[in-house]
Amino acid sequence: MTTRLILDVDTGTDDAVAIFAAACHPELELLGVTAVNGNVALKYTIENTLRVLDHIGSDVPAFAGADRPIVRPDMPIPRHILNGDDPQFQVNELDFAPSTTPARPESAVRFLIDSFMADGGDDIVLVATGPLTNLALALGAEPRLAGRIPRLVIMGGARGWGNVTAVAEFNFWVDPEAAEAVLSAGIRDVLILPLDATHSAQLGLEDCDAFDAVGTPAATGSAALIRHRIQHYPDDPAAVRATAPVHDALCIAALVHPEVLTEVVDGTVHVETAGERTLGEMVLDTRPWRDEPTNARVALRADAQIFSRFLTDAFRS
Ligand code: BDR
Ligand code: CA
Repeated sequence: MTTRLILDVDTGTDDAVAIFAAACHPELELLGVTAVNGNVALKYTIENTLRVLDHIGSDVPAFAGADRPIVRPDMPIPRHILNGDDPQFQVNELDFAPSTTPARPESAVRFLIDSFMADGGDDIVLVATGPLTNLALALGAEPRLAGRIPRLVIMGGARGWGNVTAVAEFNFWVDPEAAEAVLSAGIRDVLILPLDATHSAQLGLEDCDAFDAVGTPAATGSAALIRHRIQHYPDDPAAVRATAPVHDALCIAALVHPEVLTEVVDGTVHVETAGERTLGEMVLDTRPWRDEPTNARVALRADAQIFSRFLTDAFRS
């Protein structure tokens, strides 16, 4: 059975691998890609998205969305300060040929609303791998939208340590108000893949070699992106080999192989929007006696071998 999906991205090296996998896997039908401000500014996330689609000759439409968080003027701290340590980790433009296909003229928010509100639109899975600004704006503009989205898969948050602050993961931190609005919207099936899951299923150089051996543009393109991630990923003293998380692509693997997520808990999830030191923190409440209803399933561990095999299968197609 084919799963129809829309991807909301801030492309980004790991978003790019997610797009390749979603566009190529035979059990997935990618209907559109919406881009948002995040890893890099919107003009680059949309251009990178188009480059990735062009690289594999895909005619999947791409739409530009929000160029800043819904409340904050830029991000909680300016982008150039955030990326000061290693400006090469997130390059503005991915190393693929400049796009030749333009973005569609409609906004990402319009596309999201129209897709889910259309007849038959309520079987589309939405996978969000960037800050949740586009979706928060769409939910605000169309109150019926939350009830039309059957399943939402989000890369965001951290139960353990964060990757921007001690407790905050990047996607939730960039637009915490949007993340909180999305999680409070009443979407019925929400699956969150925080850093705990993505860090437990890192890919290594041997995975890149395996993708290169597949030889398709998606495979070799992903191998190059993941090697770049490995090269620039901060050293983990506990690591026994050179690896890096490929966060966003794990969301795509979970659509086809739910068993890639080896530990998943039900909980009530909020995102901190006011904390002086905790802005953007994912607050996951799993207390059995909590008085708020469960609003998400949260993956805490994943299997790197299943993930890598999934990508190989996707890239072969
Ligand atoms: C998330 O932040 C972005 O930098 C990545 O693309 C991923 O979606 C990881 O924290
Ligand atoms: Ca991303």
